[in-house]
Amino acid sequence: MLICKTPAEMHSACKNLRNANKTLGLVPTMGALHDGHLSLIAAARAECDVVVVSIFVNPTQFGPNEDYAAYPRTFAADCEKLESAGVHVVFAPLADEMVTPDTTTFVDTGELGSRLDGASRPIHFRGVATIVARLFNIVQPDRAYFGQKDAAQVAVLRRMVRDLNFPVQLTVCPIYREADGLAMSSRNRYLSPEERQRALILSKALAVAQSLAQQGESNAEALRSAILETFTTDPQLRLDYVAVVHPDTLLPLADTSHGALIAVAAWIGTTRLIDNLLLPA
Ligand code: PAF
Repeated sequence: MLICKTPAEMHSACKNLRNANKTLGLVPTMGALHDGHLSLIAAARAECDVVVVSIFVNPTQFGPNEDYAAYPRTFAADCEKLESAGVHVVFAPLADEMVTPDTTTFVDTGELGSRLDGASRPIHFRGVATIVARLFNIVQPDRAYFGQKDAAQVAVLRRMVRDLNFPVQLTVCPIYREADGLAMSSRNRYLSPEERQRALILSKALAVAQSLAQQGESNAEALRSAILETFTTDPQLRLDYVAVVHPDTLLPLADTSHGALIAVAAWIGTTRLIDNLLLPA
């Protein structure tokens, strides 16, 4: 497994691979890898000759009071997982190599980037889109893999690829869950055992909405209310949002019969967790 530490090194390694007619799959991550990441890697391995995983805790997607400093950094353990998952190249740049202090060019994600998580994390999607654009330019992958758990990120990045004509195909992989339903996230490791138990309320509330939808409920407000009611069973839970929206525009829907994204975000203690459910048309 090749480990590249600078954009220049990575760029030239990928250029050589492309010249050898290899298809490249990129899995962008911030490290602290779990089985959800490994499912993205498995999808990339199935479709591409060479799998590149980037590990970069991107400072520009964290707000001033967020967990950039505390974000878990587990590089050695990550590399072991990547090696056994059959990854070919790891790109692990230093922060000042990727985001130079004199950077003035950013990807503006517009209104779309201010919806859902973008409402409570105003600079988040600009930071995500800019770093993913840089990764796309450095690696120039044929395909890139993202998790459905970050549903708003998926909408923003799909739009960026379309609006800026990136020649890359995005693949979105299903949410990977623990046996008890908790969506896998690097932030789950912040939870105390008691909080870990309480965190199940996110997937439980979505399951309530899913079962109502399966029984034929298509009124978005009714589905939202059912989730909010489930949340009232944990008086300590601090809600960010419960949204029933179009998966591409992230705009609220009144009716879900043509498909919908139901997304939730809440703080359990000091940890902000997200989860979602896609209703088919
Ligand atoms: O989903 C993530 O881990 C990050 O937002 C990403 C896409 C790697 C960009 O930093």
